[in-house]
Amino acid sequence: MIPDNELIRAAEEMLDKAYAPYSGFRVGAALLCADGRVFTGCNVENASYGGTICAERTAALKAVSEGAREFKAIAIVSGAGDLTFPCGICRQFLSEFACDDFRVILRDKNGNIVSFTFEELMPHSFKL
Ligand code: THU
Repeated sequence: MIPDNELIRAAEEMLDKAYAPYSGFRVGAALLCADGRVFTGCNVENASYGGTICAERTAALKAVSEGAREFKAIAIVSGAGDLTFPCGICRQFLSEFACDDFRVILRDKNGNIVSFTFEELMPHSFKL
């Protein structure tokens, strides 16, 4: 299983690819799936602001569209440096494919890696 610091590094590599001309806020994500594959993503903004897609959902869409259906962990970093938690829309989106012990791995401005269970960030999530 890929260590947390490697997943963070994969997320950091995506910061260069972020398309964020409106907010200037770059985000990178790396999503580890149960089959061992890692899918990366960056935020992709749009002139019609509501059309913006966050880094986490970019990674999730890449994973699901390639057949991965079970998420084990996601690393998220931003150009701002401090902890960048997934937004509410991304939490709902990720919950659809989260395994029981799905973890969210973040990096603070000192480079320390911290992790949370998805359940901590989104208890009682909506499911059909
Ligand atoms: N953003 C993400 O990519 N992930 C989040 O969880 C929070 C927000 C992006 C969306 C937008 O391009 C920029 O950060 C500012 O909101």
